[in-house]
Amino acid sequence: MEGTKLNWLLISFLAFASILPLLRADIAEYDEVWRRRAAEAYNRTVQAYHPDPLKVVMHFNKHVNKHVEESGGLDDVMMLNTTRRHLGKAYKGPCKVTNPIDACWRCNPKWHLNRFRLADCGMGFGSKATGGKGGRIYMVTDKSDDDVLNPKPGTLRHAVIQEEPLWITFRRNMVIKLKQELMVTSDKTIDGRGAIVQIAYGAGITIQFVKNVIIHNLKIHHIVEKDGGLIRDSASHTGLRTQSDGDGISIFGSQDIWIDHVSMTRCADGLIDIIQGSTGITISNSHFTDHDHAMLFGGNDKYPGDEKMQITVAFNHFGKRMVQRMPRCRYGFFHVVNNDYTHWKMYAIGGSSHPTIISQGNRYIADHPYAKQVTKRECPESEWKHWTWVTDGDLFLRGAYFIPSGDQDWPSKHPEKSDNIKPASAKLVSQMTKFAGRLGCKLKYAC
Ligand SMILES: *[C@@H]1O[C@H](CO)[C@@H](O)[C@H](O)[C@H]1NC(C)=O
Ligand SMILES: *[C@@H]1O[C@H](CO)[C@@H](O)[C@H](O)[C@H]1NC(C)=O
Repeated sequence: MEGTKLNWLLISFLAFASILPLLRADIAEYDEVWRRRAAEAYNRTVQAYHPDPLKVVMHFNKHVNKHVEESGGLDDVMMLNTTRRHLGKAYKGPCKVTNPIDACWRCNPKWHLNRFRLADCGMGFGSKATGGKGGRIYMVTDKSDDDVLNPKPGTLRHAVIQEEPLWITFRRNMVIKLKQELMVTSDKTIDGRGAIVQIAYGAGITIQFVKNVIIHNLKIHHIVEKDGGLIRDSASHTGLRTQSDGDGISIFGSQDIWIDHVSMTRCADGLIDIIQGSTGITISNSHFTDHDHAMLFGGNDKYPGDEKMQITVAFNHFGKRMVQRMPRCRYGFFHVVNNDYTHWKMYAIGGSSHPTIISQGNRYIADHPYAKQVTKRECPESEWKHWTWVTDGDLFLRGAYFIPSGDQDWPSKHPEKSDNIKPASAKLVSQMTKFAGRLGCKLKYAC
């Protein structure tokens, strides 16, 4: 009996050691619960990994093309060469959608009566995320975050630690100043539609060793470092955390995550960090401004477990005063498609440790007088020339240029793996991203 228990402990320790984070996991003490979470998360990553990621890429492009065709081609492809954009916020006409994700739900004036509909609208690698669909609606009524050990019912922290699926909404406008990291558990949607919800001036959102989370329609800004300490990370467990770095959203060893229509700016560390084999993720329709290190996909060259990362970055606007890492990638497979890059001061897309980057149908405007190169690789050419970094249908303006590597024509040589469907035109990008960022959805009106 004793021996079996010991063996089991040894096995679980070894299983854990093989994925032992080289990076700080912010977990001060790996107790039994965290060990189990880490092992289960590793298994989920192995399962979530798509063996033919190009199929996901082509499926995405097919749907965008279909949407463009059905809407009779998006109008207004003027102003190609200007960083000044038609702002969705200023738009007052009848409900208008400019990409297939939005077309799936936004123009229904009764969207608030069927919030779960959103869960059917995801695209790309994160399309399996359904968040709290089918669960209870939990309405946050209290913006406070005074007790991170025993959060008060009605607060966001109380909502996200519940062990059942929940669709979390907000009764009124609120600025939530998190005292420590917000530890989100599996099967949750944080849905800011219908109110102006800001996560600001405190800690950020942490999604660690969990699955199936949707974050929608929030403003996340001025996130700062926090000391850590004892934090309740589920209804039945509290754990000791080390200092949090001040990331807006930190995704660590997690699967099936979708971030949509979020506005992010000025966080102490990254805006969105996705590390430690997190996979099955889409970041879409979001707006990023005033930030240096925007997105880190893979945090350590010594962690090849990140080969399993598969992420879609689509319909986002990387805007004013952005500097670099949009994203900066390691190891995994990244589809960067139909985004609008209007500002970068160093580079837009970078990486190390042979990531695969498929850049399609983006608009890259090199606004800065010296930073014209879109790409950046942190190693000698002899090494990176074999990495697959593809540019396909991207639009380069004001001297922007992308240095491709690897075999650009790989998809057409492997018809069994890829239909080689072209992305929607980069000329449509300022339209497709027109409503990027938090939407001002009002109850009873099309959003
Ligand atoms: C992980 O997967 C392996 C192989 O399928 C299985 O034996 C193991 O029990 C799983 N571990 C956890 C913690 O789910
Ligand atoms: C875009 O605008 C810049 C500056 O206004 C100009 O120099 C350039 O020729 C224009 N056209 C393109 C295709 O970049």
